[in-house]
Amino acid sequence: MAKTCNVALIGTKFMGKAHSNAFLQAPRFFDMKTKPVMKVIVGNDPAGTEAAAGQFGWEEWSTDWKAVVNRPDIDIVDISSPGNLHAPMAIAAAKAGKHIICEKPLANTVKEAKDMLAAVEKAGVKHMCGFTYRFNPAVISIKHMIDQGDLGRIFHVRGCYQQDWIVDPEFPVNWRLQKKTAGSGALGDIGAHITDLAQYLVGDVAEVAAATETFIKQRPLADAQMTIASKAGKKSSKKGTVDVDDAAVWVARFKGSDALGTFEATRFAPGRRNYNCIEIYGSKGSIIWNQEDMHKFQYYNAADAGDRQGFRTVNATDSGHPYTANWWPPAHNIGYEHLFTHEVYEFITQLGRKKVTYPTFADGLKVQLVLDAIERAAKSRKWEKV
Ligand SMILES: NC(=O)c1ccc[n+]([C@@H]2O[C@H](COP(=O)([O-])OP(=O)(O)OC[C@H]3O[C@@H](n4cnc5c(N)ncnc54)[C@H](O)[C@@H]3O)[C@@H](O)[C@H]2O)c1
Repeated sequence: MAKTCNVALIGTKFMGKAHSNAFLQAPRFFDMKTKPVMKVIVGNDPAGTEAAAGQFGWEEWSTDWKAVVNRPDIDIVDISSPGNLHAPMAIAAAKAGKHIICEKPLANTVKEAKDMLAAVEKAGVKHMCGFTYRFNPAVISIKHMIDQGDLGRIFHVRGCYQQDWIVDPEFPVNWRLQKKTAGSGALGDIGAHITDLAQYLVGDVAEVAAATETFIKQRPLADAQMTIASKAGKKSSKKGTVDVDDAAVWVARFKGSDALGTFEATRFAPGRRNYNCIEIYGSKGSIIWNQEDMHKFQYYNAADAGDRQGFRTVNATDSGHPYTANWWPPAHNIGYEHLFTHEVYEFITQLGRKKVTYPTFADGLKVQLVLDAIERAAKSRKWEKV
């Protein structure tokens, strides 16, 4: 194993910041035989990209992603750009023989996702799709409990990802609110996460029935640089059309199981900032977890004595939960940014392995197939197979 690997990160803002921090922190807190070197960060605006390089500690910056992915000194390309750029960037990086981390949703269409998977498989490079919440110790512990049968036969899976950042009709049309850049709205952005979590924890979705809605169809046009969190960018007095969903709800059946799934992805749940929640109810017990209280989960064990039945709170920072030994003593708690550090640690540590444990482009494609079925079902108002 090489002692170092050179990284190029495409994206300088929300995920650019999260991933930069992860490359900085991973070798400091984890024992990594191969350490990442933060070679070059890539954005689409020179001033912002130069500033990001300085702030986050990248050696160089560029606005030419094509040149960067073809540089012979780059080993890993990390794609944290809007969805419409994932396929061209990943396919070019694969052709250049780079290992690739790509943000979720893997692509904007099933065809793009299939092409991306074919490209990385042909090139024989490692590939990860950024389903970040899989790297939460609480979620991994829940997975372990389900796999060893602690919940028994699963009856219900409820996935719900609620946010409220565009309830204000004056919030402008940024790239996330346009089909040509984002593919879909709440569905692809946050519905992708709960779909992946459900498939990771319980099994593949087989069919869905769905409804989607766009509550506010016209909004002020935005400065192209606006991100998810910035309301302060330049706004135009002209209006633009929102051609993606603001919210999606669906019910699902799983392959090889009679469990029922109910799901909701919305940007219109006032008061819910990042309520990414999964509830699983089984014959032997139940689990409830949500990212707003990310280190804890509720566990009900049906075998508890009658005088102490009820949900207990498990703090997943105690020893016995993954990654905790690398951070702080129990209940000193980790945060959102640590999940990305775990991603980077796993990706780089497993570079030389045949089989990997993290979500790959194949998982990204599986999610894309479900998202596609949800969009078809919302249109047809019928059950649609994945
Ligand atoms: N894993 C997660 O939990 C999570 C959270 C948020 C976003 N995401 C995903 O990350 C990706 C980026 O989202 P974001 O919130 O960081 O977006 P953002 O708007 O904050 O940043 C987008 C970045 O892309 C760069 N960019 C755009 N066009 C470019 C081009 N042609 N060349 C080079 N760079 C270009 C911009 O410079 C900017 O830095 C999306 O796919 C999104 O779905 C994942």
